[in-house]
Amino acid sequence: MAIERTFSIIKPDATKRNITGKVNALIEGAGLKIVAQKRIQMTRAQAETFYGVHKERPFFGELVDFMISAPVVVQVLEGEGAISRYREVMGATNPANAVPGTIRKECALSVGENSVHGSDATETAAIEIAQFFSANEIVG
Ligand code: CMP
Repeated sequence: MAIERTFSIIKPDATKRNITGKVNALIEGAGLKIVAQKRIQMTRAQAETFYGVHKERPFFGELVDFMISAPVVVQVLEGEGAISRYREVMGATNPANAVPGTIRKECALSVGENSVHGSDATETAAIEIAQFFSANEIVG
């Protein structure tokens, strides 16, 4: 399988509980390499742009409010089949449905406060990475 890059966010529920290291240990344990990482306070405009695809959903306002409620850690992860690998490691969107050992099963609180985001496809990974990182900030 080809080496890919995917975009990850460690969300406010995880930064507030000071468990970003626990999340990173699960990422690294799955064979993914963190090739860029920074802790930021997302602006409302950044969150609305990032989740623009969901703007008609009933939970959009709640989602944006949550994403700006505390710092997040944005990351670029690299590895073989990184996009699908990370989605496996994250587990189901709703932690109630997530498999033991996945980040959401071990860390998430609810479908909204679900600890992590990961890109769903090659195109979205490229767009999401470019929203938060310049090329010289990614060091493989
Ligand atoms: P994420 O993978 O970041 O992409 C969209 C996010 O919307 C998703 O994770 C959830 O955190 C959030 N989400 C999905 N469904 C709901 C819901 N029913 N209520 C609140 N947030 C949701």
